[in-house]
Amino acid sequence: MCGIVGYIGTRAASKILVEGLKTLEYRGYDSAGVATVGEGILQRTRAKGKLINLQTKLEGLEDPAHLGIGHTRWATHGKPEEHNAHPHTDTKERIAVVQNGIIENYRELREELKAKGHQFRSDTDTEVIPHLIAEYLQNPAENPDSDTVLTEQSSFLEAARQAVNRLKGAFALAMVSVDFPDELLVVRQQAPLAIGFGQGEFFCASDTPAIMPYTQAVLTLENGELARLTRMGVEVYDFTGHRLKKKPQTLNWNPIMVEKQGFKHFMLKEIYEQPGVVRTCLETYLDTSWDQQSGRSPINLNLPNALLDDLEHIQILACGTSWHASLVGKYLLEQVANVPTVVQYASEFRYAPAPLMANTLTIGVTQSGETADTLAALEMEQTRRSASCDERHAPRMLGITNRVDSSLSRLVPHVMGTMAGIEIGVAATKTFVAQLMAFYFLSLELAYRRQTISSARLAELIEGLRQLPAQLELVLESQERYVEELSHDFADTTDFIFIGRGINYPIALEGALKLKEISYIHAEGYPAGEMKHGPIALLDEKVPVVAIATPGTVYEKVLSNAQEAKARDARLIGVVPMNDADAEDTFDALLPVPIVDELLSPVLTVVPLQLLSYHIAARRGLDVDQPRNLAKSVTVE
Ligand code: G6P
Repeated sequence: MCGIVGYIGTRAASKILVEGLKTLEYRGYDSAGVATVGEGILQRTRAKGKLINLQTKLEGLEDPAHLGIGHTRWATHGKPEEHNAHPHTDTKERIAVVQNGIIENYRELREELKAKGHQFRSDTDTEVIPHLIAEYLQNPAENPDSDTVLTEQSSFLEAARQAVNRLKGAFALAMVSVDFPDELLVVRQQAPLAIGFGQGEFFCASDTPAIMPYTQAVLTLENGELARLTRMGVEVYDFTGHRLKKKPQTLNWNPIMVEKQGFKHFMLKEIYEQPGVVRTCLETYLDTSWDQQSGRSPINLNLPNALLDDLEHIQILACGTSWHASLVGKYLLEQVANVPTVVQYASEFRYAPAPLMANTLTIGVTQSGETADTLAALEMEQTRRSASCDERHAPRMLGITNRVDSSLSRLVPHVMGTMAGIEIGVAATKTFVAQLMAFYFLSLELAYRRQTISSARLAELIEGLRQLPAQLELVLESQERYVEELSHDFADTTDFIFIGRGINYPIALEGALKLKEISYIHAEGYPAGEMKHGPIALLDEKVPVVAIATPGTVYEKVLSNAQEAKARDARLIGVVPMNDADAEDTFDALLPVPIVDELLSPVLTVVPLQLLSYHIAARRGLDVDQPRNLAKSVTVE
């Protein structure tokens, strides 16, 4: 949510800033801006709308400055207008600041600063920051809340430190000043901020893809840290002004991962990457030399026994698509490993947590590892469990994330990486499938430990998992063209219903969410058996129904539920087993998938729904990778 970039070095900053913003545009795209500092001038350019508008404005502007900051915005405070676009400046336009997050106490700070003569020009919370820094530069705090005053290093740094100590909320900042032309300041407080180390040049960004083309050496700031970047190096401090010793880590991401590689959209590329992602997950978590006779678990989770043994409950906290993956996880954990499991929206749980249950594993599922609600819910749970006198309530915390370098990994002691590679399309696809894989591994490991399934059944499921990459390839090959053609029929459709049951009920929810997110068509996912209790009233010939009907405990039931919809003239689309006569009789359009064990079917059934939503949105000429009003990672509450 909002992208931040910064550069200090020897090259023209504005080009590097715009390139960085291109890779971060998925974080927000309702306005963008850059500010550079060079030769006694602070030059600021901002534009409403997509980054291309800013690029057009910058064309032809000669800007040799070697220091600057940039921002792509997802509006929280103030409409997406140019005057609200970042960077924001102080009254005299000597300091420029970009922010990702929310400053909760901005109203009182604004009043205080206005009373001192500061003039505000935007409706944003961010604008208080440059004014506050300007105020502290002119009138350093009388009682700085520090025993280490940084003015010897830089009065800009010290003024920024004093300002940051006044801010309440979750934020990441990058700041420059024309009076300090050799300094780029960055801050992290509950919102991500990484620093890239080059040769005589340094970068900062709210996400590493913006840094990757230049360097693999990256330092991720912790909460409560402030850093000063000069051409000579990076100094990191805590908010009291104490210098900290920090070293960059080497990333193993590759810049190729953030290119479209011939696909029209990132989303389509990422859908096609799914067989490879599942293969990588299998290579990472399956013991290749395992067989039924080996007398050990087939899964390598690398998690301590204390986390997994003697569990009485599991609670999963997540948002959006990760919440849907967690519902599949609940099904597996209960039906395979026999552990009672609840799945909670993190945004609800944090304000109304259930009473503490004993011997409970809490799992936070977040693709980005940065979703504010999920992080806050996990932190709250960890704190209240640590405070309990009953040792059966002690926290057992696990994260499932695609970004093992994220805030989640700093918050919880154990993390399962989902190995999907960076996902750029705002609508999650490959990371969803990778989250499902994590739940297969976790539930099979628990089933093995708790002996809830026989070793023959375990072997059968492991073999089924191994077949999935080839089966995914088959689904993609056989359906791409047909789904594209089918999408033509829905150019004017305004409502869709998705139904599924059992382990495929969450897939119906996910199918509906994908369609809503990128094609702006109203869609609802329902457990098929509940249709009769209300939603069936919506059906007529204008409302297509997509049913997920795959062999297993509820196959015939879903077919009957589909027939009930057909009797109301709904057009029926079925995600069905390949070569199935019953399905061919029932549905108007077929999206066949290979026949697999019911427990494994979600990995395959979700793919036709991803393709369907992709092609409908592409057909409508919509911006598939950057749908309106959405952001890839929601770092504000
Ligand atoms: C945003 C994204 C969704 C995502 C959700 C949770 O809303 O647009 O695609 O599912 O956040 O994100 P997370 O990173 O926590 O999985």
